[in-house]
Amino acid sequence: MSQEQLRPVRVGLLGIGTVGSGTFTVLKRNQEEIRRRAGRGIEITMVADLNVELARKVVGDAAQVVSDARQVIANPDVDVVVELIGGYGVAKALVLEAIAAGKHVVTANKALLAVHGTEIFAAARAKGVIVAFEAAVAGGIPIIKALREGLTANQIQWVAGIINGTTNFILSEMRDKGLDFDVVLKEAQRLGYAEADPTFDIEGVDAAHKATLLSAIAFGIPVQFDKAHVEGITQLSATDIKYAEQLGYRIKLLGIARRRMDVKTPHGVGGIELRTHPTLVPMRRLIANVEGAMNAVLVQGDAVGTTMYYGKGAGSEPTASAVVADLVDIARLLDAAPEARVPYLAFQPDEMSTLPILPLDEVVTSFYLRLRVADKAGVLAKITGILAEQGISIDAVIQREADEVSGEGNQTDLIILTHDTTEGGMNKAIAAMQALPTVLAPIVRVRKEELA
Ligand code: HSE
Repeated sequence: MSQEQLRPVRVGLLGIGTVGSGTFTVLKRNQEEIRRRAGRGIEITMVADLNVELARKVVGDAAQVVSDARQVIANPDVDVVVELIGGYGVAKALVLEAIAAGKHVVTANKALLAVHGTEIFAAARAKGVIVAFEAAVAGGIPIIKALREGLTANQIQWVAGIINGTTNFILSEMRDKGLDFDVVLKEAQRLGYAEADPTFDIEGVDAAHKATLLSAIAFGIPVQFDKAHVEGITQLSATDIKYAEQLGYRIKLLGIARRRMDVKTPHGVGGIELRTHPTLVPMRRLIANVEGAMNAVLVQGDAVGTTMYYGKGAGSEPTASAVVADLVDIARLLDAAPEARVPYLAFQPDEMSTLPILPLDEVVTSFYLRLRVADKAGVLAKITGILAEQGISIDAVIQREADEVSGEGNQTDLIILTHDTTEGGMNKAIAAMQALPTVLAPIVRVRKEELA
């Protein structure tokens, strides 16, 4: 059959909010280019949304609009179901139903895949359908494609990304304006940069979902969000951002996945660090200069070295760009054998790695510490002594000028940068330092990564 004769791929859209309407618009505007690339047309033929009127406004007469997503799944004329509802609840049931009905699935739902990916990919494999999720990580940046295909020659050593635009916007504003987190969050909500309920973003959960997916495709391990370390930006102060800046660092919320072969676990040698937390990054690194709501992902491969991917991690058309790219992949593979497909998590499902996610105590990073101390003789010696006891080497120390505090004597901020150490060792050192009577406030710690 010649390519001209292939019928268009018929797409059913579940949810036509921001990303759904972007998908509709991009497919329509670029239909000719997309057809030339895919070898056949791609048409949204059916849309389900609870807000039927709004959906009709977006699609006009181009597609049938219904309120019940199950009508789309049950329609034998729909080849691919695009799930843009989000969350773990109804979206999970609908994705599993679509798979059971033999539909290929495209989803932007990082939460769903990070938590239930193992079940969803197993169901899809059993049914012989594709589940594609480029839009789930870093929006318009084709990082899934890059990791699964472009870098397939490499042993990936680590992946580190700014993969949440909301928190990157807040951190940029905190640094630019010297404002504290709460103030900037309110402003970000007023401007529409942060959602009314920003919990998943500011607590690091959204970034950790994406880091979980990146860890799976970088190392061929199952998705294990339950073992990820998740820490957001709510505890960060403008003071620490300022001190970090003075020391040549920016603070970024990074999602990090790193292969470590220097550790022994009950399972054998090696493990994977999977963590999301605020991180000091040297200002001279490109990624430290990714500002506002932009995303960026660094990948270190043994053959390629360090590569970086930068772009919009959210928004209507940037995310639609990723959804449509998945639709084009499916259009090309629609009549091909399952063996022709790239595996869901980059590695063949029977060849998955059993390397465990390492407990946080085993994670190795360097640290920024801020201690509020009494400005007395011997205080610094005691603190450095405790760090030495734990084998923690100091990289730099800065003592601010003492400030007078009436009735309590002089106090000062002591800023310490350490070399690499384990989290477990640092916990012990912090507990011992905190017990000193001359340490006057809770010690602030922020992890630091050189990303070299
Ligand atoms: N809320 C996310 C962000 C976008 O702020 O980057 C969707 O994952």
